Amino acid sequence: MNVIYQPHTKRAYRRADAKPLLSLQNVTLRYRTEASIITAAHDVSFDVHRGDRFILLGASGCGKSSLLKAVGGFLKPAAGEIRLEGRIVDAPGPDRMMVFQEFDQLLPWKTILQNVAYPMRKAKKWSSAEICDRARLFTAKVGLEKFADAYPHTLSGGMKQRVAIARAMAIEPKILLMDEPFAALDALTRRKMQDDLLELWSGTRSTILFVTHSIEEAVVVGSRILVLTPHPGQVRAEINAHQFAFADLGSADFGNLCTRIHHMLFTPCPRHPKGQ
Ligand SMILES: Nc1ncnc2c1ncn2[C@@H]1O[C@H](COP(=O)(O)OP(=O)(O)O)[C@@H](O)[C@H]1O
Ligand SMILES: [Mg+2]
Repeated sequence: MNVIYQPHTKRAYRRADAKPLLSLQNVTLRYRTEASIITAAHDVSFDVHRGDRFILLGASGCGKSSLLKAVGGFLKPAAGEIRLEGRIVDAPGPDRMMVFQEFDQLLPWKTILQNVAYPMRKAKKWSSAEICDRARLFTAKVGLEKFADAYPHTLSGGMKQRVAIARAMAIEPKILLMDEPFAALDALTRRKMQDDLLELWSGTRSTILFVTHSIEEAVVVGSRILVLTPHPGQVRAEINAHQFAFADLGSADFGNLCTRIHHMLFTPCPRHPKGQ
């Protein structure tokens, strides 16, 4: 593996000894169809630490969503293991909340507030009054307090994604799993959502595992980036990107890092079985 993660900061040095929150060790993921067996990801290992905005970056079909599904407990590895706080992940749980790309992930018959409250009611961690307060708080955090009593079909795609993020964060998962959450939005809304996510993160310091196929989005949103080879996904490199903030968009350093990642994604990797 071409590891170019540089522990520049004191925080990064501490991390070298700290136990990861999430650890994937030599994970291979396969789908068995009637016609064949498809390897979605091969021998993938990485560690996510508390407070990371950890990005899985790779071309469409390289197994990013499959890796997220496996971390979510929806797909069992064919080989290797996934551990959260040292315990093997073998089922879904409220400690891993997922935000998807699709706008239809909300319950259409519930209001925004009820949608945000719904997983908290199922988790039974808070009283009814606390759930109401938390639902209002997180709806406000994503800027939708005026729409608390609206139904999802009255909202734009970006607003629906905000609700999905509020709903996932309100339950205080150990890790927030985001599968191309902004990919279906127009370019301007996407920018705003990236900025707002970083703003939210600076308040909560939640741990985020974020999937994207956009290099620029990876560098803007991520503190660390795992670059995956094309199908089947293998680790090509792990990159430290915490030094870049939203304001660096368009700077020379930002552009250089994007170019470096672009080369990694598009030049053949000698380790890859197909030489891709
Ligand atoms: N449910 C499934 N059954 C069979 N093959 C699948 C299934 N889901 C994904 N795949 C295959 O696994 C590979 C990786 O898919 P996916 O994880 O969705 O990639 P990505 O999210 O990077 O676009 C692809 O070749 C895809 O066709
Ligand atoms: Mg996907």
